Amino acid sequence: MKSMVDGKILDLMPYQPGKPLEEVQGEFNLKKVVKLASNENPFPPPAKVVKAIQDEIASLRLYPDTDSYFLRKRIAEYQGVGIGNIIMGSGSVELIKMIVKVFLKPGERVLTAKSTFPMFKVAAIENGGRQAIIEADMDGDYGYDLDRMYDMMDSTVKIIFIANPNNPTGTMLPRDKLLDFIRSVPGDRIIVLDNDYQEYVSDSDKHVDGIKLALNRKNIIVLRTFSKIYGLAGLRVGYGIANEESISYLSRVRAPFNLTRVGQQAALASLESDDFKKRSAELNQKNREALFNRLSELGMRPVPTHANFILFFPGRDIDEVNGGLLRQGVVIRPLRAFGVPDGMRVTVGFEEDICFFIESLRRVLERIS
Ligand SMILES: Cc1ncc(COP(=O)(O)O)c(C=O)c1O
Repeated sequence: MKSMVDGKILDLMPYQPGKPLEEVQGEFNLKKVVKLASNENPFPPPAKVVKAIQDEIASLRLYPDTDSYFLRKRIAEYQGVGIGNIIMGSGSVELIKMIVKVFLKPGERVLTAKSTFPMFKVAAIENGGRQAIIEADMDGDYGYDLDRMYDMMDSTVKIIFIANPNNPTGTMLPRDKLLDFIRSVPGDRIIVLDNDYQEYVSDSDKHVDGIKLALNRKNIIVLRTFSKIYGLAGLRVGYGIANEESISYLSRVRAPFNLTRVGQQAALASLESDDFKKRSAELNQKNREALFNRLSELGMRPVPTHANFILFFPGRDIDEVNGGLLRQGVVIRPLRAFGVPDGMRVTVGFEEDICFFIESLRRVLERIS
């Protein structure tokens, strides 16, 4: 069989998500499991969204609107762009793949950072093989090192992926630095600004809102998602914003009906739920500070974060720490696949979840040391 498979695919490993809650519960025979592994919103969707989902059930025998017209129209209004500037994806992850498929030609490469969302690399390898990805080391504070990336940008680099805030480090690029970098990149290279965690940034005047840039610069594509602050990770809705011409090329590779009927209606309703968004951001801000402090007290060297998760360093064997936590019913994320082999990432949850995690971590650390 192997000889029948494209060599580029043989270079790939399947994406390893955080373990599903139900699997951990069954595997370790646990009463309580707390999942803080995938940067999901701890709140269930608001009533308005639940109602929109329920109302759509009767129509499920019908295919969805393939162009997600009403959702794109509403997002266009919400973000102050034209409907032709928007493309929907089955999660923003689908858009990452589409961008690479459309813009990466043979011999060209994708440039990103070493400790970032692994799907940038996966999409590059899938399309161009191992030689199609180059990854810059992080700066001393676990952020994207844009000077280094600029130096690595030879004529083969075609697409640059920047997650801001970055997953898994939670870092945010200083506004001036990012704007300088964008100005210095030649217009024939695509810059993808993945802003999936933007709503969690509390000092928003220091954050670069990619959407405004994408309207003025043809080589910028912005990614946004309903999986994080909107609390709809299970429905798979993301979108990209760019100039109309780029959107038209991306549309050529979009699978028909890539958003479900339920996903479209839920996303529409969630755009009318600003209070839910506000409540989610406030809870996150309060709890991430508490979580940061408790990790510091345990000597875990947490990295200051602008998102809804925290990177930390247990200073022990990561597999042992992870195994110990799983046995106690806590699912967080070891970060080997994210280019941080000695780090772990924990999502900011409800206060009781944080307490459960911290107490479990304390017990695991005591047992190991
Ligand atoms: C930086 C970043 N981009 C994209 C994604 C994909 O998100 P989704 O496909 O759920 O929109 C994630 C998911 O965690 C992420 O962290």
